[in-house]
Parts: sequence; structure tokens; C-alpha cells
Amino acid sequence: VTSLESSLLARSEIDEYFCRWLESDSHWNPIWKSWAKHLILGAGKALRPALCFDFYSAVSDSPRQRVGDGVLPLGLALELFHTYTLVHDDLPAMDNDDFRRGRPTLHRLTSEANAILMGDALLTASFEVLAKASISAENFRWAVQEFSRNLGAAGLIEGQRRDLESKTANFSELQQTHQLKTGKLFSMACILGVLPVEGRDSLWIDRARRWGENFGFLYQLLDDLLDRSATLQELGKTPMKDFVSGKKTVCDLLTPSELQKLATKNLAELRTLAQPFPNPKPILSWVEGLEIQFAEQLKKL
Ligand code: IPE
Ligand code: IPE
Ligand code: MG
Ligand code: MG
Ligand code: MG
Repeated sequence: VTSLESSLLARSEIDEYFCRWLESDSHWNPIWKSWAKHLILGAGKALRPALCFDFYSAVSDSPRQRVGDGVLPLGLALELFHTYTLVHDDLPAMDNDDFRRGRPTLHRLTSEANAILMGDALLTASFEVLAKASISAENFRWAVQEFSRNLGAAGLIEGQRRDLESKTANFSELQQTHQLKTGKLFSMACILGVLPVEGRDSLWIDRARRWGENFGFLYQLLDDLLDRSATLQELGKTPMKDFVSGKKTVCDLLTPSELQKLATKNLAELRTLAQPFPNPKPILSWVEGLEIQFAEQLKKL
């Protein structure tokens, strides 16, 4: 199973579970449901749920095809949270984007006020759904704490604040910003995959965290490269945004060969971190997928 296949599978699993939750559990009125469907159904790559499920397979005996209902809520919680960050990231006061996931952004479809509220609703819902996971009470308490710490003002949200000031940032500041705004959520995805496994090795959580942060950093680098070279159709969002808004990215500060070196070093580290897991194959396929995408983008520089 390639990482692309894994994310396509996660996309359909998440959509199905999300619809079930929306109709039978959410108590949302039709207007919220229609915005939520606009944002989520059949949209986005579902990378974070897919990684969560693949980490689960890497440390449990369950092959990817049999990731059950107990783990699905973890994936949906991640996707709801991620979608909230995108809705707010696109707002006029932030990146001011008109398109997301090949559709008009929510503030374009309705109003800025509604988009702010929908972000709030998705953020809140992510905790409600997290509570449905088949994990022990102790693990749940730990997960809520990690979720809030990594994705709040000491993590992802701080990364977003720094990102808005990134016009004058140097390389190490940008690297930190990337690790916060993107790395933290990827590491949360990996950690949540390991969490449900009974009798897990305590080192696995730490390894999953480091793998996710590293992967997220590289993924943001790739996103910044794509911003320069891909089309609206390929991206589902407006290209050249960083350039037009004068936002500095790591790609502006490094030469192509320095970028290549950085990617090579980080990809090697991802492989090393993955090796000790009982079944590293699904994780290694993500490294392979990222390597191919990087090679494609670096060729264009
Ligand atoms: C977009 O994330 C935001 C970044 C961290 C670069 P994705 O590229 O995973 O976006 P979707 O979920 O597929 O829309
Ligand atoms: C997104 O970074 C990070 C978060 C939403 C937390 P970007 O602003 O680069 O993402 P895109 O390019 O709009 O998807
Ligand atoms: Mg942004
Ligand atoms: Mg943006
Ligand atoms: Mg971007």
C-alpha cells in the first residue's frame, strides 16, 4: 500500500464516519451541516487521519484494512481540527484566500463572521469526537492534554502567529515556525495512532512525535515549493500566495542544492526513526512518497 492509496482509503473512511456522526450524533442544524459538508466531504487529502491509521498498523497486529471503529474517531478528530485551522488560515485577516480544496473558502461562500464561527464549531467538535475513541480513560485524559498543548498557543497557534510575522524571519526562525504550525499537528496524528495499542513500548510515543514533527516540517517545505510552481487546479487553492503577499518561506532562503541537502538529511532521519517499529512498512511508504514529490519539485527550481 502506497501513502497515496492509504490517504485515499482514509478519505473515504473519514467521509463515511463523518456523515454518520453528523446525522446521528452532532445535533447540528442543517446550515452547520451544509457548511461542514462543503468543507470536508470528498475534499482534502486526509493525510493526518491516514498517518494516524498507518502508525496504528505499524505498532499493532491490525493490517491497514482492518483499522476499526475504535480508531476512526481519532482520525476524524484530527481532520476536524485540521479543517478548522484551514478555515481560519484562509480568513481575510490571515492569508486571505478565495479557494480551498478546489472550492470557494467558507467566508466567500457565506460571510467572514460565519467562517469564524464554523472554525470554532469544528475545533469544539474535534474534542467531542476524540471522546468517542476506544481508549482507556487515562489515555483519553493524556490525549486531551497533548492535543491542547501541541495545538494551542504553545504550539500550532503560536506557529500561525509567527507565520504572520515571517517577512523578516531568518532560516532558523522559519524552521521553528514550520515545526509549530504544521509539524505539531502531524506529530499529534502519529502519536494518536500509537496511543490505543495495549502494552505499547513507552519509547514509541516519543519516536512517533519526532517522526511527525520532522515529516510536518518537510511537508510544509513541499507546500511552499508547490505554492510557487503548481496551478490552482492541482492545488485546489490559489498559487503564488506566499510570493504575492511577500511572505518569506524556507525556499527563499536556501539555494536549490541546499534545499536538496536539507530534504535528503530529513528523509534519512525519518527512515531511521521508522525502522524500530514492529511493522515499519506503512510508515516507510510515506517517506518514499514524500521523496518522490520533493524530487519532482526540486527539478523545477
Ligand atoms: C494544508 O494541508 C496546510 C499545510 C499544512 C500545508 P494539506 O496539504 O494536508 O491540505 P488538505 O487537507 O489536503 O486540504
Ligand atoms: C498552513 O500553512 C498552516 C496551518 C493552517 C496551521 P499555509 O498557510 O502555508 O497553508 P496553505 O498554503 O494556506 O494551505
Ligand atoms: Mg498560513
Ligand atoms: Mg494559507
Ligand atoms: Mg502554503
